[in-house]
Amino acid sequence: MSRQWWKESVVYQIYPRSFNDSNGDGVGDLNGITEKLDYLKDLGVDVLWLSPVYDSPNDDNGYDIRDYQAIMDEFGTMEDWENLLSEVHGRGMRLIMDLVVNHSSDEHKWFAESRKSKDNPYRDYYIWRPGKEDGSEPNNWESAFSGSAWQYDEQTGEYFLHLFSKKQPDLNWENPKVREEVYGMMRWWLDKGIDGFRMDVVNFISKVEGLPDAEPQEGKKYAPGGEYFANGPRIHEFLHEMNQEAMKNYDAMTVAEMPGVTPDLAQKYTDEAREEVDMVFQFEHVDLDSGPGGKWDLRPLRLRDLKENLSKWQKALEHKGWNSLYMNNHDQPRMVSRFGNDGEYRVKSAKMLATMLHMMKGTPYIYQGEEIGMTNVKFESINEYEDIETLNMYREKRAEGVPHEEIMKSIYVKGRDNARTPVQWNTEKNAGFTTGEPWLKLNPNYTEINAEQAVADPDSVYHYYRRLIELRHNNEVIVYGGYDLLQPEDETFFAFERPYQGEKLLVICNFTGEQAEFVLPEEYSGKEGGLLISNTESEEVVTFDTKLSFTPYEARVYRVMV
Ligand code: NOJ
Repeated sequence: MSRQWWKESVVYQIYPRSFNDSNGDGVGDLNGITEKLDYLKDLGVDVLWLSPVYDSPNDDNGYDIRDYQAIMDEFGTMEDWENLLSEVHGRGMRLIMDLVVNHSSDEHKWFAESRKSKDNPYRDYYIWRPGKEDGSEPNNWESAFSGSAWQYDEQTGEYFLHLFSKKQPDLNWENPKVREEVYGMMRWWLDKGIDGFRMDVVNFISKVEGLPDAEPQEGKKYAPGGEYFANGPRIHEFLHEMNQEAMKNYDAMTVAEMPGVTPDLAQKYTDEAREEVDMVFQFEHVDLDSGPGGKWDLRPLRLRDLKENLSKWQKALEHKGWNSLYMNNHDQPRMVSRFGNDGEYRVKSAKMLATMLHMMKGTPYIYQGEEIGMTNVKFESINEYEDIETLNMYREKRAEGVPHEEIMKSIYVKGRDNARTPVQWNTEKNAGFTTGEPWLKLNPNYTEINAEQAVADPDSVYHYYRRLIELRHNNEVIVYGGYDLLQPEDETFFAFERPYQGEKLLVICNFTGEQAEFVLPEEYSGKEGGLLISNTESEEVVTFDTKLSFTPYEARVYRVMV
């Protein structure tokens, strides 16, 4: 397995809208990010990933791009962006940009042309189809943001496809001109000096010819059509072409967001010999607490399912390909509320979850606020929410007669705004995020949970992340070691080993709020373990007996010679 800087890096994701507002308009911006670079450098992260900062009407907070080569006014200017890049590089960090090319905004100039007439030169940049005989949509695919994935456009009497909002028309990747435009745009950013891309739902770009109807769902008009657009027939060809045309001549990384990707497919996508992408974001582990009805259909997570799943990924990409490691991003609820305990054990369980993730093999991603243990939020009124996915779902369910309280319950657990409340910097008004009116309300717990407090407290979640990152930088075993799960059926502990060149890390995490005994594998008996890190005070060196006793949410990592 080759050595690469991106395998040895820790990435920090910034959702610029909610990160830090430098000019008091209530919206985070580029200069706000630049102001906080020392904070990020001190944390120790190597790479910053910016969620989209391009010109956009913000139907989906920048994931609907109007101009791929311009900066969103609210975020600043190209000069601000260039300054940010040079300040990032000046601190020895790298910067990667979001690449959103499954779709553009309907306000992009290509789409404005495309919708004008059927013979417009840009018509085939998007996916247009006539309605069925009865005038209804060309197929029954459901948009990820509720309702049909097709929008009728009066001007030419045809429908266009939008897998996301109707202001996010899908680009037609079958058209070689579209591909050339995208590769040219990527090179333009790479020439500016960026260090790579995170690729938004990029495994959706190749659709099955004929766009067949999805399997109908009982009582529903529309159905998820993933089998006809996720990992589609030409996906490997397109990604390889993108690699050759845009990435190959740059020392840059790629991480491809891929809903519906399996370990087998991921091995193909990330096999270095195939030259497609460096790593993928998979979704299986964050779908384990969803029922058959999808993400809003809540069900409790079983620890053994999480262990089975993450271990499957660790094993599948152990020798070929590479994993990304994440629990949080701008689409996922806060991990400490979801898989830990955001009350009494907030700090301890946030550290435990971080230990589990950061001791695995792969490139870890930290989402803004995760490093201070930010939690989910509960706004009383639906009007206080901003996310299009949440709002559309709420409207649809209300129309179906689902009671308000029931819908809110699922929003509290799974809504994307949980991750998007502004970063909590200090105890001042609006947590120091803005001097103006914040675009999305803050989580009121900022008086206790904030970066200033966390930096000042050596026992904070923040300082624990710093140590985890430092350990990764200083211990090859964490980056390149193997992985073996222990006790797969156990519902209390997530424990695994990381063997590497005559040593082994033993990682043991108590996922429960109870004190518990961990029974060691026999081979440990009588061996010495040196404590690498723990979220609880613990002996530096132990001679293992048969068991170890753990307090609630305790995590420990030992180094053992084998
Ligand atoms: C995935 C992004 O992470 C999400 O925020 C966005 O809404 C969709 N792709 C559509 O671009």
